[in-house]
Amino acid sequence: MTNKQSRTAPPAFDTSVPHPARVYNAILGGKDNYEADRAAAEATIRAFPGNVQAALANRAFLSRAVNYLAAEAGIGQFLDIGTGLPSADNTHEVAQASAPGCRVVYVDNDPIVLAHARALLTSAEPGATSYIEADLRDPVKIIKQAERLLDFTRPVAVMLVAVLHLIADDDNPYQLVNTLLDAVPAGSYLAVSHLANDLYPERMTELARGFNEQSPVKVTLRNRAEISRFFDGLELTDPGVAQVSRWRPRSDLEAAAPAILWAGVARKPA
Ligand SMILES: C[S@@+](CC[C@H](N)C(=O)[O-])C[C@H]1O[C@@H](n2cnc3c(N)ncnc32)[C@H](O)[C@@H]1O
Repeated sequence: MTNKQSRTAPPAFDTSVPHPARVYNAILGGKDNYEADRAAAEATIRAFPGNVQAALANRAFLSRAVNYLAAEAGIGQFLDIGTGLPSADNTHEVAQASAPGCRVVYVDNDPIVLAHARALLTSAEPGATSYIEADLRDPVKIIKQAERLLDFTRPVAVMLVAVLHLIADDDNPYQLVNTLLDAVPAGSYLAVSHLANDLYPERMTELARGFNEQSPVKVTLRNRAEISRFFDGLELTDPGVAQVSRWRPRSDLEAAAPAILWAGVARKPA
């Protein structure tokens, strides 16, 4: 965190250093990662041995949140920023299972995600998906390009799942979220999950230290109050800001998963 340049430089396709998308893929047991990614993944698992289950719990939150938004809140448009490599239950698959006409724009700044994006573009009619290679720190570019597929006069769910902790305080994460929310109308939603420093604090400090020692893209842990601030001015859906595994779990098993991220879903009021 001492090197601002390394925090803000966009990641190049360099397999000798870990990249967040590939480290996450390694934690989830995927095959699209390299030695440096696996070493960083192992450092996080050494610090927090439940990290594989915790990553799965975050994916399960993403799936439940999308299902809630498409099936219960009537949202038909999704802007999924910090998509990650294709995995089980990608946003469009979950959304279109409830409402086939859903449109999803995926955004990531890691070229490796772009290289695998075909799997995210498998939408059947009447829905549609597209992919933008862009950085969350340039929300104006994201909105401009997303307008090709999404209608910004109608509600949009802005998904920022496990990505805001990769935005340093110096990059004004609250301002970035506000810019995105200013572009969407009332009735739109924000869904966030974010690594915590007030859950398992000692292990999480070690997890962040181990990751940041190896990765040019640094992680910034935040506490529940700081993460709740992303929802300022919005109406939080029950149960409010909760551990990922406790956000509307579908079973006791889901609720019992170790959770190191806070999560919430909230609606933009009129
Ligand atoms: C931990 S993964 C989360 C993937 C997915 N959202 C999930 O929760 O399963 C974080 C993703 O955010 C992407 N990312 C990190 N910083 C970003 C930025 N500044 N702009 C856009 N994407 C970013 C990474 O490349 C990675 O794919």
